[in-house]
Amino acid sequence: MKFFIDTANLAQIKEANDLGILDGVTTNPSLMAKEGIKGTEAVMQHYKTICEMVNGDISAEVISTDFAGIVEEGKKLAAIHKNIVVKVPMIKEGIKAIKWFTDNGIKTNCTLIFSAGQAILAAKAGATYVSPFIGRIDDSGWDGVELIAQIANIYSIQGFKTEILAASIRNALHIVKCAEAGADVCTCPLDSILGLLKHPLTDIGLAKFLEDAKKFA
Ligand code: E4P
Repeated sequence: MKFFIDTANLAQIKEANDLGILDGVTTNPSLMAKEGIKGTEAVMQHYKTICEMVNGDISAEVISTDFAGIVEEGKKLAAIHKNIVVKVPMIKEGIKAIKWFTDNGIKTNCTLIFSAGQAILAAKAGATYVSPFIGRIDDSGWDGVELIAQIANIYSIQGFKTEILAASIRNALHIVKCAEAGADVCTCPLDSILGLLKHPLTDIGLAKFLEDAKKFA
């Protein structure tokens, strides 16, 4: 399973990248706004900076909702760097645009996926990735990880090449469950990635080893 970081914060991207386990980055308009980035030029420059920091797929989301606008915006985003993946919402015009990007060799990430039907449609259009939002599904009283397993099963039966990018991750357990359920990628906040490190018995065990090491140092 590939690890992406789900943020537009450069310090967090650097920290995750320095671990040596980072395969890419996802952003969305809310994450960009959180970093205080304003204006098209600044947004484009921010994506370029991220692409220069991380050697992997970088999702950049369009904000247009009509076919022509999505294609126009997506072409500009894709021109920033070869690793840009154009992130397109799961709407009718978005599906048409994903098909256009597929036919023109531009990678896509179909976002805001909440059902298996949506994941099938995105795969039919040739999306490189689909992003089921598992945390938001959990928040609404359903089981987000179950959706990952359902999509993985369907893609395997049907031979779809689209990769399942588990998004809206809330904690380390989500990452483990998505790995079990067959996600190809997990995009996670830094805290959830670092949460994988933690076990109290590791801390107790290390403290004891270091204490005993003083006996022969
Ligand atoms: C990433 O691709 C998604 O936009 C992101 O994971 C959504 O996460 P949230 O539900 O925490 O906003």
